[in-house]
Amino acid sequence: MKIVYFVTGNLGKVREAKEMFEKLGIDMQQISYGYPEIQSDNLGEIAKYGAKNAAMYLKKPIIVEDAGMFISALKGFPGPYSAFIFKCIGNEGILKLMRGVKNRNAQFKSVVGYCEPGKEAITFSGSVEGEISEESRGNMGFGYDPIFLHQKKTFAQMSTEEKNKVSHRCMALRKFAEWFCKDI
Ligand code: IMP
Repeated sequence: MKIVYFVTGNLGKVREAKEMFEKLGIDMQQISYGYPEIQSDNLGEIAKYGAKNAAMYLKKPIIVEDAGMFISALKGFPGPYSAFIFKCIGNEGILKLMRGVKNRNAQFKSVVGYCEPGKEAITFSGSVEGEISEESRGNMGFGYDPIFLHQKKTFAQMSTEEKNKVSHRCMALRKFAEWFCKDI
């Protein structure tokens, strides 16, 4: 059985990745190591830098994942700064910023970075379109899930399995898994 080491401290991401990798017969192990994240507008660059650093430090082939929510009416905000903005203003803050705004289109983007020690990182990306809801709904998932509507339900109203069928993260992880297993 192939093993994937996923370097993250985010248990929401771990739950989603585990569900997906299990279905593909891949054993996923979490490693909780806080690798440095560079400041960049580009999720790919953040994931590449993080993956290279984590692989070098842990001396193992690993994956990291960087994600963000991009709101069209706010010119892509909070984008690569999603984690920081979530900590500062949370979902209620985003709903306040969006009060009275007609264009509620938003996108989640994810980049998975894979790296072996001493090598360059490779990246795989995924995205999903949705809308910012008028109010918070649902209690599953994590982060912006309660305000991200995808076809009438927020991500927080979906089980992990349902979210995994459509999510940005799963799209990126699936691309990685196809590449990772191509020699089997
Ligand atoms: P990072 O990928 O750890 O830098 O985190 C980006 C931030 O975006 C997270 O802290 C969450 O607040 C948010 N985020 C990323 N992916 C998701 C998701 O699938 N659902 C909800 N929020 C997410």
